[in-house]
Amino acid sequence: MIKKVLIGIVLFFVVIYLIFSWRSNNIPGESIIAELDTETLFNTRCGVCHNGGSTEAPLMSALKILPEEHILAAMKTGVMKNQAAMLSGKQHRQLAAYISETDKSDAAPLVVIGLCDEAETDDYTQASSQVDDWGLGLKNQRYYDHPDLKINEGNVGDLELKWVFAFPNASRARVQPTIAGNTLFTASQLGTIYVLNKETGCVRWTYQADAEIRSALVIGRDATGRADRLYFGDFVANVYALDLKTKKLLWKRKIDTHPVATITGTLSLYDDRLYIPVSSTEILSAADPGYPCCDFRGSMVALNKEDGSLIWKTYTISQVPEQQGTNRKGVPIFAPSGAPIWTGVTIDTQRRLLYIGTGENYTRPVTNTSDAIMAFALEDGKIAWVQQTMADDAWNGACVTITSRANCPDDNGPDADFGAPPILVRAGDRDLILVGQKSGIVYALDPDKKGEIIWQKHVGRGGTMGGIHWGMATDETTLFVPINDRGIYGIHKEKEKAPGVHALNVNDGRVLWSTIEKDRCPPLTLRGCGPGISAAITLIPGIVFGGTLDGFMKAYASRDGKELWSYDTKRDYKAVNGVKAFGGAIDSDGPIIVGNQLFITSGYAKFAEKEGNVLLSFAINDN
Ligand code: HEC
Repeated sequence: MIKKVLIGIVLFFVVIYLIFSWRSNNIPGESIIAELDTETLFNTRCGVCHNGGSTEAPLMSALKILPEEHILAAMKTGVMKNQAAMLSGKQHRQLAAYISETDKSDAAPLVVIGLCDEAETDDYTQASSQVDDWGLGLKNQRYYDHPDLKINEGNVGDLELKWVFAFPNASRARVQPTIAGNTLFTASQLGTIYVLNKETGCVRWTYQADAEIRSALVIGRDATGRADRLYFGDFVANVYALDLKTKKLLWKRKIDTHPVATITGTLSLYDDRLYIPVSSTEILSAADPGYPCCDFRGSMVALNKEDGSLIWKTYTISQVPEQQGTNRKGVPIFAPSGAPIWTGVTIDTQRRLLYIGTGENYTRPVTNTSDAIMAFALEDGKIAWVQQTMADDAWNGACVTITSRANCPDDNGPDADFGAPPILVRAGDRDLILVGQKSGIVYALDPDKKGEIIWQKHVGRGGTMGGIHWGMATDETTLFVPINDRGIYGIHKEKEKAPGVHALNVNDGRVLWSTIEKDRCPPLTLRGCGPGISAAITLIPGIVFGGTLDGFMKAYASRDGKELWSYDTKRDYKAVNGVKAFGGAIDSDGPIIVGNQLFITSGYAKFAEKEGNVLLSFAINDN
């Protein structure tokens, strides 16, 4: 039986490969493009990736939800700029109209629906329920232990859906909420900041940013501890400061001039500065054989929080990229490149350092700063040390596209970046930095010895979406490690897949328990389905919360990994703001738990998973 399924899978991919290679050999030159009907244009120029040919790309079912203007913007100025560069303005419009099935009447992102009934006053001062950032503190431990918590091992099974907020015209929801008093801050794929009533989900006010927001909105506080600002980065590398009183922009600053630079890791606010990680979508540009790949370098930026002025910027690669011959189609290649920063920023106030993890190099020759943990001095951005856990990882989007592989480096991969931020802990009488990589390996580093490895543990098989993808959690005694190990990927193919949650002893990496999630996905599905946990997880006393790629929100006992609660978020909802609402994959951001409530987003179509557009609020009835 298993053999038959395997043969079926192999045949399936062979057929797909044959279809796509036939298509790629038949991609018409520019002069012919002009004569193509829209469907052929889509199939030859876009469908090669969006019909399932690229494991990195959203499927058509996710694209059609997006409004025409957004699809147009993706081609003109956004992530698809290179893919659409050969096409005329008319063809851009044709394609956008062809892809989008959104009803024009509710397509305008600026029309806000679901406003709160009466003019409520924001109460940011409530002592309870404060989540200012993504990592639940500067050390990124993702552990919430606050006196206001009413959820525990005994009652977590009683969590029930309280309200649902739906992001209009979105195929994913991935901005982890931050919370001040009775107010919740989040944002959408279309770049709208939503300020909601945490109890009811109604909209207090909104702000429109220039591009998608992928990271959490960080709350700034005045001298009395009252929330007074929001800081965040957008998908085109702008950083913003909003004044919470006036609801207006205080300042905005572009922090990288590279055309495809982006901010997706959450910035950190410490003292009078913001520390921002810079990444790029140049791995996607690289999938175009005509693209001179690649000249982006990751960087860390420090800004003054008052006016956004630049304090320092340090690249993860010090050399400026230079031409290194040509790709397989004769187009120039540049190196060194890459080492982007996808992770959030961990602040070590005692050593006056910050820690981040980097991604791979895009081209060869490689550098010793890719797939590494790097320490930068808070003061001036000088690199204090580099611990590279995987050398020689040269990879880009050309390597997963069945057609256009011209820019894929020789001996490529395995694409083992860090997506999860380093975690700083006090373990007994010493400090440790705990890091988890897409390779499926967890490391404990010594911050006093330039990141020397104290222990390492191979927990998962690893892969493009992890292994460990977005974030682990710890109470400084036990480290909880989410493992994705999705389907066809695998960095360490010799290792069994271990999708689920694993508990490790912080002192030596010993595995205390493992809860493996069973595969619930339909067979031979094109969707990026999997039972594993790619999204970040969150810990409260006694309970680890994690959301699976196939959309289940789960609670596990931190003592032994026993499942305490599970909710399938892949379904349709009635949203408080009246927008068509549906859940899907849980990916990227993790749950936030405060008081008697739990918040989680559902829907994420970036890696061909099931799309969705909701922020769900669960609660325990404490009356
Ligand atoms: C080489 C593969 C590839 C090709 C060819 C390609 N795309 Fe994409 N596309 C992607 C990937 C990968 C993403 C996801 C990027 C991300 O979200 O980081 C994406 C995202 C998108 C999005 C979503 C943007 C958003 O905000 O979510 C749209 C719309 C889109 N593509 C349209 C197109 C159109 C139209 C074409 C043809 C002109 C095209 N794509 C060609 C790989 C491709």
